[in-house]
Amino acid sequence: MAQEVRGVIAGGKDEPVRTETILVPDPGPGEAVVEVRACGVCHTDLHYRQGGINDEFPFLLGHEAAGWVESVGEGVTEVVPGDFVILNWRAVCGQCRACRRGRPWYCFDTHNARQPMTLKDGTPLSPALGIGAFAEKTLVAAGQCTKVDAEVSPAVAGLLGCGVMAGIGAAINTGGVGRGDSVAVIGCGGVGDAAVAGARLAGAARIIAVDIDDRKLETALKIGATHSVNSRREDPVEAIRGLTGGFGADVVIEAVGRPETYEQAFYARDLAGTVVLVGVPTPEMKLELPLLDVFGRGGSLKSSWYGDCLPSRDFPMLIDLHRQGRLDLGAFVTETIGLDDVEQAFERMHAGDVLRSVVVF
Ligand code: APR
Ligand code: ZN
Ligand code: ZN
Repeated sequence: MAQEVRGVIAGGKDEPVRTETILVPDPGPGEAVVEVRACGVCHTDLHYRQGGINDEFPFLLGHEAAGWVESVGEGVTEVVPGDFVILNWRAVCGQCRACRRGRPWYCFDTHNARQPMTLKDGTPLSPALGIGAFAEKTLVAAGQCTKVDAEVSPAVAGLLGCGVMAGIGAAINTGGVGRGDSVAVIGCGGVGDAAVAGARLAGAARIIAVDIDDRKLETALKIGATHSVNSRREDPVEAIRGLTGGFGADVVIEAVGRPETYEQAFYARDLAGTVVLVGVPTPEMKLELPLLDVFGRGGSLKSSWYGDCLPSRDFPMLIDLHRQGRLDLGAFVTETIGLDDVEQAFERMHAGDVLRSVVVF
């Protein structure tokens, strides 16, 4: 029987979100119902509510979450009731060309729960990124659940479900940052700071944080950056070259998603260096570059999808490092809030006041 719980709904384009009773069906084959314990507020939730992703309103927002598996449907082998899990928005198919070539992070046939959660009147909800975890309980595909150590705080664990994994993975998985490398991170919000933390974990010798906001640079220094550059005050490409013996960084991570910062990232890398693009641009943005520079500068340009992560490999590993005190995931939680505070959290996020607000239950 479907259960009634409270969830945060975006009802229409640019309308403030509201908390409503929703119906969560029993899990079908391959599905699980998760009792959510924490869910971070991410830019993508705001994009949904602004109508920037698609117009399949009403949305059940929230997708950066951890909780307990309450019940599982037929044939579920991944998890059992009582497991503490982090949810991911890309349960890969295992069958497609990318999956079979051993690169499941490029799988574009990912799946979610098949039956809809609904409003009380039966209106189907579109769960944000196939999760919908600003709710006391949510229904997901069992493959979206990764079991991790239950000793860790849910607010911290949930962060790995999206932005923090995207940033750490951009450095470690996509960028392949190695011991002694120089790394520059352009844009030090939650994602960029996570890239700083990832570069530090990987043993980078120099980590140069670039942002236009001094408050963000201060936080980046606390998280592990060794140098900071305010790109309102100085040319970031010159500054990065100056800090790397005139060469440019071995790995430059772009975590803003704008043409000018893409261009800075392109020129701030060492000739044989790697640029990792994790900031998401909008459809109308374009970048014009002299082909001779594209050809002549060598190295590589890579985009990073969800940190090119493998949840079953990366989530437990990062939780371990956190528990050992080698990765301070708590530094990303600016505040914990209640389910009714999501709209205010969007405002604070928009003003650049927080790295992450996390709803806890
Ligand atoms: N140069 C440098 N930094 C900039 C610039 C710029 N021109 N413009 C904005 N920034 C900084 C902001 O000051 C902020 O610190 O970029 C940071 C962006 O951070 P957030 O807004 O907190 O966004 P975040 O959640 O970190 O995501 C960053 O990654 O995954 C993508 O969709 C996501 O495109 C977004 C990006
Ligand atoms: Zn997100
Ligand atoms: Zn696949």
